[in-house]
Amino acid sequence: MALIELCNAADVEPGTALRVEAADRLLAVFNIDGAFYVTADACSHGPGSLSAGAIEGDVVECDFHGGCFHIPTGQPVKPPCTEPVPVFAVTLRDGKVWIELP
Ligand code: FES
Repeated sequence: MALIELCNAADVEPGTALRVEAADRLLAVFNIDGAFYVTADACSHGPGSLSAGAIEGDVVECDFHGGCFHIPTGQPVKPPCTEPVPVFAVTLRDGKVWIELP
């Protein structure tokens, strides 16, 4: 398993998301009230970018068709999204956000 550094935690304000490219993946780093979550940036429904979506609590609305996902689990919670998006285990260390990749 490898730890991949994504960004400084301070770069992601609470209630916002940051798009990060790392390990050949486009990822969305979310800060929900100081807790960090990382999902794939790509919506499972189409070309939407989750880091560009509107965040309401722990739910993000895709900027393309308005489908929604539960950020901590990646599960779809509003159509037209029906497939989950990948989520990654997050580690905070030295003021930075890292994810674990197998
Ligand atoms: S591309 Fe995200 S809801 Fe359609």
